[in-house]
Amino acid sequence: MGTTAMADQAGTAVRVCRVDELAPGAITRAHTNPPIAVYNVDGVFYATSDLCSHDKSSLSEDGYLDAGEIECGWHFAKFCIKTGGVTAPPAREPLRTYAVRVDGDEVFVLVPAVANQPG
Ligand code: FES
Repeated sequence: MGTTAMADQAGTAVRVCRVDELAPGAITRAHTNPPIAVYNVDGVFYATSDLCSHDKSSLSEDGYLDAGEIECGWHFAKFCIKTGGVTAPPAREPLRTYAVRVDGDEVFVLVPAVANQPG
């Protein structure tokens, strides 16, 4: 899937996928820097950091989405995807969350300018 981006003062809207490419219960990865996990929970889209705050596993690749929580596949920490808050250890730090915008049939994540820098 292609990636397009539109920048404005609030940051950059990065295209993730078409709405019909991310079914309810599914997760995909936005190839931003740092990467962002994008979730469909019963037709509502959410986005968090893709990297677990415990030891940097990819939540979009190794996580399990259930009832609005993402469970890390490595050591089973859980996070609320709406707030990024930790709901089960061993993680202690919350995940960063990002705004999601649906424009027509396309899904975008809004990346603040400072979050999309190399490094
Ligand atoms: S890397 Fe996610 S719980 Fe350890």
